[in-house]
Amino acid sequence: MPDAKESLTDAQLTELIDIVKKIHGFDFSDYTEASFRRRIARVMMIKKLEFYDLKHLLINNPNFFQEFLEEITVNVTEMFRDPAFYKSLHTQVIPYLSTYQHIKVWCAGCSTGEEAYSLAILLNEEKLLKRSFIYGTDINTEVLNYAKKGIYSLRKIKSYAENYLFTGLPGSLTDHFTMMYDAAAIHSELKQNTLFSVHNLISDTVFNEFQLISCRNVFIYFETELQHRILDLFYNSLCPLGYLCLGNKETIRSDIFRKKFKVINQKENIYQKIGS
Ligand SMILES: C[S@@+](CC[C@H](N)C(=O)[O-])C[C@H]1O[C@@H](n2cnc3c(N)ncnc32)[C@H](O)[C@@H]1O
Repeated sequence: MPDAKESLTDAQLTELIDIVKKIHGFDFSDYTEASFRRRIARVMMIKKLEFYDLKHLLINNPNFFQEFLEEITVNVTEMFRDPAFYKSLHTQVIPYLSTYQHIKVWCAGCSTGEEAYSLAILLNEEKLLKRSFIYGTDINTEVLNYAKKGIYSLRKIKSYAENYLFTGLPGSLTDHFTMMYDAAAIHSELKQNTLFSVHNLISDTVFNEFQLISCRNVFIYFETELQHRILDLFYNSLCPLGYLCLGNKETIRSDIFRKKFKVINQKENIYQKIGS
């Protein structure tokens, strides 16, 4: 891959961000620069484009933008990713969630659905799924189409089953799937209470009130100021004493944020909203 820094000048990068914002309404100006540069370099390499070709396509070819978006966003995900997180959720959060009559969960930046379905499996095993609803959202429509299908290759299921083992949960991942020839389909009872739709964390607003929000492995791509704006969105989307899960790769040290949330698990970045 070409060196990301060499592939675009600062002025070219700014120009691309402006075009995408003005023409397509997506604002990437607060994405972390190094990662954004790397992704652009990747698009240029995969599609064999020079800067001017890329600019031309972004301006003149509306269909190209979707392809661009798919390459720009990092969609790597797994079921029961970071198993220790699910262990903490199981012991520290689920007992509290079980006291609600209705449990609404928002999985923000859900990619191809693995995280949302992992939460559905956990709630199902705790006999809470029937009174729960899980909203999986992402900026990228293509990954959401995969999520809606809920079908994963057997190779992936095998590695997800290993993750599941490390969560210490009592069941077995494969109990939640119907095996097909070289893939596995998530059981329809898990899909029934799960809805996937487009939501852009940068420009879209509060759309419901949740008992739990999980947004893991997403903040790492955002600059601090943008992270704070999204934390505000999450604060306003949580019910009093609702939970926010940011995952073990985030480091948020804002004083304003600290006053608004109590730390439930430092390592996994699980917080509880303080106040109304
Ligand atoms: C690395 S994946 C994380 C998937 C999952 N949460 C996990 O931890 O496995 C990051 C996801 O965030 C999504 N994303 C990036 N920018 C976003 C935005 N502004 N609004 C909503 N989703 C976004 C990407 O499309 C991608 O699917």
